[in-house]
Amino acid sequence: MDISEQRRIVDRLLSLIGNGTTDLAPQSYERDVLAYYDPARFILERKILFRQTPLWAGFTNDVANPGDFITYDDSGVPILVIRQENGSLSGFVNSCRHRGTRLVDDAFGTLKAIRCPYHGWCYNTSGNLVAVPFRQGFPNMDWATRGLIQVPVAEKYGMIFVRATPGPPIDVAEHLGHLGEELASWNVETAVRVHTKSINSKINWKFALDVFAEGYHFSILHKNTIDKLTYNNVMTYDSFGRHYRLAFPSKQILTLKDKPRDKWVPLDHLSFVYFIFPNISLNVTGAKVPTVRVFRICPGNAVDESITHHTLYSRIPVESVDHRSALIKHFNYMHEVVAREDHKVAVTAQSAVSSGAQSSFIFGRNEPSLIQLHRQFDEAVSHGPTGAMPPAKIP
Ligand code: FES
Ligand SMILES: [Fe+2]
Repeated sequence: MDISEQRRIVDRLLSLIGNGTTDLAPQSYERDVLAYYDPARFILERKILFRQTPLWAGFTNDVANPGDFITYDDSGVPILVIRQENGSLSGFVNSCRHRGTRLVDDAFGTLKAIRCPYHGWCYNTSGNLVAVPFRQGFPNMDWATRGLIQVPVAEKYGMIFVRATPGPPIDVAEHLGHLGEELASWNVETAVRVHTKSINSKINWKFALDVFAEGYHFSILHKNTIDKLTYNNVMTYDSFGRHYRLAFPSKQILTLKDKPRDKWVPLDHLSFVYFIFPNISLNVTGAKVPTVRVFRICPGNAVDESITHHTLYSRIPVESVDHRSALIKHFNYMHEVVAREDHKVAVTAQSAVSSGAQSSFIFGRNEPSLIQLHRQFDEAVSHGPTGAMPPAKIP
C-alpha cells in the first residue's frame, strides 16, 4: 500500500476517534447460532469452504529453493507442496500410493526424494514413483499412474494457494481481486518465517476466526494487554470482495496531528488486519520492526474443535540474535493473549451454544467485519462451490 493511501487511513482513524465512533455497518445483524454447533453444517463447511476453495498455504519464501517443501493439512486432505527444479511449485496428496501412509511429517524442510516410512516406496520431488523394494511383487503395476496424486497449487503476489480438490488451476488474481497487489506491496514474497505454534481449542473454527474481526473487546477482555496500546472500538473497515481489511489505531496516533502530514509514518501508529477468505487473519505491523503475522484457522475433528496455526514472519532479513529474540518475545506475547484471553472466553461461548441454550447472537453495527464473514459463510454453504459465489455486500 502506498504511503498516501496509508495516510488516508490515518485521516479516517483520526476522524473516527474525534467523533467517538468506528466504521459501522448500516444495521446490526442477528445470526442463528446453529452454525457453531450443528454437525451437519460443519460437514458442509469442511466440504465447501475447505475442500473446494483455494486456501492460503504460505509465502513464497517458505519454499524458496528446489526441494523445499511445506506440508498442509487444513483442508483435511494431507497435502505436500514442493518447489521444483524449474522454480514452479507442485502440490501432491501426502499419501503413499501403495497403502496410503503419510509420506512427509515435518511442517517444512527440504527433500531430495520422498521415501515412504512403511515399505520404502520412493518418489522423486516431481511425484513420480521411482523405486519399489521387491518390484517383482508388483509385476503388472503401471508405474506411470502410481505417482503421487496432484492437487492444484498456485503462486502469485508472493503467496501460495492450494485446493484439496483436483480440478482447474487456481486463479489467485480472481480469488484475491484488488487485495492481491496490496498484500504483495508489504513484501510478503520475501517474508522470513521466525516462529510458529498452534493452539488447539474446544471451539468451532468460526469462533477462532471471530476473535480477530473486531476491536470492540479490547478494553474489557484485553484490559491488561492490547488495550494498553490500542484504541478500543475504533477501526476502519474496507471490504475487498470476499476479503476485508481492518486498521486499528495505536493510542499514540493523536501525536500525528502535531506533525506535518508528509512526515507521517502510519505503520508506527496503526496495524492492519486482513481477512483472506475463508480462514486467514493476516496482521501487518511495524515501521521499525516490520512483521507479518498469520493466523491460519482450520476445523478440528468435530464441530466444536479447531486449530489455530500462528506464524510470525519478519518483512526484513533477521540478521542479529537480538532482532530474532525480540521477534520471538513479541510472538510469545501475542500467542498468550490469543490463547489465554480470546480463546478462554470463546470456549465458554462454545459450551453455551452447544447446550442449545440460546438460538441467536447479535453482531453490532460496530462489527461490520463479523457481519460480512458470517453472511458469506451462510451464502457459501447455501450456494455450493465458492468459485461461483458472488462477493458479499453489506447492505
Ligand atoms: S504404504 Fe508406502 S510403501 Fe507401503
Ligand atoms: Fe482479542
